[in-house]
Parts: sequence; C-alpha cells; structure tokens
Amino acid sequence: MGYPQPSHERETPVLSKYFGDRDATSLDGWRKRGGYEGLRKALSMTPAEIVDIVKASGLRGRGGAGFPTGIKWSFMKPGDGKPHYLCCNADESEPGTFKDREIMRWTPHALVEGCALGAYAIGAETAYVYIRGEFTEPLARMRQAVREAYDAGILGTNSMGTGKRIDVIIHKGAGAYICGEETAMMNSIEGRRGNPRIKPPFPAVSGVFAQPTTINNVETLAAVPHILVQGADWYKAMSLSSPKSTGSKLFSVCGNIARPGNYEVTLGFPFKDFLYDLCGGPLPGRTLKAVVPGGISVPIQTMEEAEASKMDYEGFIEQGSMLGSGGVIVFDDQQNMVKQIARAARFFAHESCGQCTQCREGTAWTTRIMERIRDGEGTHEDLDTLFSIADNMTATTICVLSDSCAVPVMSGIRKFRSEFEALIKKPKFHPVTAAVA
Ligand SMILES: Cc1cc2nc3c(=O)[nH]c(=O)nc-3n(C[C@H](O)[C@H](O)[C@H](O)COP(=O)(O)O)c2cc1C
Repeated sequence: MGYPQPSHERETPVLSKYFGDRDATSLDGWRKRGGYEGLRKALSMTPAEIVDIVKASGLRGRGGAGFPTGIKWSFMKPGDGKPHYLCCNADESEPGTFKDREIMRWTPHALVEGCALGAYAIGAETAYVYIRGEFTEPLARMRQAVREAYDAGILGTNSMGTGKRIDVIIHKGAGAYICGEETAMMNSIEGRRGNPRIKPPFPAVSGVFAQPTTINNVETLAAVPHILVQGADWYKAMSLSSPKSTGSKLFSVCGNIARPGNYEVTLGFPFKDFLYDLCGGPLPGRTLKAVVPGGISVPIQTMEEAEASKMDYEGFIEQGSMLGSGGVIVFDDQQNMVKQIARAARFFAHESCGQCTQCREGTAWTTRIMERIRDGEGTHEDLDTLFSIADNMTATTICVLSDSCAVPVMSGIRKFRSEFEALIKKPKFHPVTAAVA
C-alpha cells in the first residue's frame, strides 16, 4: 500500500485512500491492498510491544477528547485473571461528523483488523463494535466483513493460525446520542438503558460487564494497523506543527461551503487553506462568517480565529475552540447565529438522558430562552440568564453532554452578541413606569 507524504497543500489519504472503491470492501480486495498485514505482524509480538509502538506513534483518540491511545491501552493489566473487553465506538452522532460511517462503508476490514489488533494488545478476546442503528449500509458492510474474517480464520479461536482467540461482535444501537458516551455505551451493550455511569471506577478498572474495558473510536482503531506496518516513526513524522499532534485525520465538512465532504489531512494543516482551497470556500456571492471545527460540542470560531488555526489539538485550542471529532460546520453571511445555536440547544435537550438535574433542566431552559430570543421575544436579561444557566451546566454532571450544550451558547453570545441584541425586543411601554417618570 503506497503511503502519501505529509503535506501543507494536499490531502494525505491514509484511511480514506479507498473511499469509493467498492472492491476494497471485500476480504480479497482488502488483502490485495495490503490488508491484515498489521494484524499478522502484531500477533507475532507481545501485547506490551504493540502498546509501546502505539505510544511512540503519538496517536491520540479521534472520538473527541484526544486521549493518547497507547497510554489508554497501558491501563489494561494483562494477566490479571479477568476477561478484558475492547469496545469500538461507532455511534457517531455528533452533529457535523460523518467520517466513521465512511470508514465502515468503504473499508470495513480496516476496522475489523483494528479491532482484532486492539483487542490482542489489551489482553482481550472479545471486541464489541457498537454501531449506530441508522447506519444501514455501514452495518451491512461490517457484518459481511466480520463473516468473511471468521470464514478465513482471521477471527475465531485460532486467529491467523496463532492459537489466539479473537472475537468481534457487532452490536446495533438504537440511535441515541448519549449512547456515544462511553459508559452509556457500555450500559447499552449490557442491555440496560443508555445512561452514563459515574466515574470512577473508570472503564479500565470496571467497564462492560464490570470487567476491564477499553473504548476507542472507529478512526482511532482503523489507524493502528497502518502504524504497525509502517512504524511509529512514520506516523510521528506525519505532523505539520505540534509534536503532540501526529498522523492524518479525517475532517467532515458541511454547511455553507462549496465542496462539502470528508477530507483527510496531516494534523497541523492550515485551516484557512483547508477551507478556501481544499473545500472551495464560500458559495458564489457569499462570505464565510463562522465555523464550528470539531462537532457542535466545541466553541464556535469567528473567521479571524478559524483562519489563524492550525488543524490539530493545540492549534484549535489556541484559537478559542477544539479539534473535537473533526466535524467542521461552516456558516456564511446568510445565516443567523441565534437560530443556529437555538437549533443546537434543542438537539441537546432532546438527547439529554435526564439523569442529572443541571442537564435535564438546563438544556430545556436554554432551549426555551434561545428560541424566545430567536422569535424576537427575548430580553437583555435573558443573556445574563443564559450565562448563569450555562455556568451551572459546566463540570457539574456525570457526563459532558450538559457542558456540550453550554459551549455553543456561551461562545455564540461572546462572539456574535450583536446578532442576539438585534433580535432582542426593545422594552415594552409600561404605563405605570411612564407615569412616575
Ligand atoms: C454525549 C457524548 C457523545 C459521544 N459520542 C461519541 C461518538 O459518537 N463516537 C465516539 O467515538 N466518541 C463519542 N464520545 C466520546 C466517547 O465517550 C469516548 O471518549 C471515545 O469513544 C473514546 O475513543 P478515543 O479515545 O479513540 O477517542 C461521546 C462523548 C459524549 C460525552
């Protein structure tokens, strides 16, 4: 498999190289493209050696938080006498994000291989792939790939003839955003309601079925076989700015942009070039106004911030946002930010599991106030109330869905206050106050 060079100008298709190539979806097609060589190599090594390579590569989780994958894997203690589990998070419900489903759709064996490899590295014999229920086609391709891998002896009791057992089980979700949160996902796999669990205990201590568990995103796991084949140094060298952000990353681009879609670039790529050159910039006659770079849960950027950003974990933080899941949502001058943020708030209110008061009530209050302002019925006091609610919703709940709702509201008011004020009604004439005056 030929690998692209890191580039400031072009895409670097490692994971997306075979998107659109139907032949790559079958086991034969995948093998012809170098598939399962990473797993073969891994199975000849010890789990500790694999963890060291992944640590050295600098790979960080692509699901949102950016936790270093090798370090996460090292929390699992082999030989503790307990069954270990790997859970692959294929729920992909973050608004603006649509890359994991394409990995499963076009290169399902890349994920099967990543899951088998990850499971072996953490001392697990079973990997669950939790796939969002609406992903009909990715689900069918993944089921087919797992079947083919069992038939070929890649999965099962004697994986690739090594005597090691590796099972991959597809678990279909039912389309709840909260089930993408790792502990809610574990409850859902166990057949319980998808409510997040209080941490600690962390999943590496007590996860699915109360056993040590690692949760990784689809893109994270699909990257690992390439690291095994090409080496940690190759992956580390794929970086354009910070040594803490290595490798290529898929970004899903949607909204008011000329060429929406999935793009894979080396981390550190200049965001301005990405938006205007790769994605074609604004639609004719329009100008770009704002960007959400990492899924709707991360702060909104002004164009000034966006154009100064490097596309990596540190670069987006320096410019007031986060890399998140890599879901880039673009807004142009025709959009009203209050309307957009109200829509985001309604999404979070709908998806809150309702366990924590701050989230259950806070997302609902935020939605009511945002919609009131959107409809021209708001007051200046509402802006202070929104901030106060957002403050109470931050860092006070079991999971961060609540924080995620507060983030676009606070960043939106701070950066686009004039749009809120333009919609806020002038105070009504009040006869009593007027008489006293
Ligand atoms: C409300 C909520 C929804 C989430 N949804 C997803 C998701 O759809 N896919 C995903 O990979 N991670 C999601 N996450 C993050 C996961 O909890 C977890 O951090 C991630 O799967 C870990 O994988 P990684 O280390 O490979 O990034 C979500 C988190 C929260 C709080």
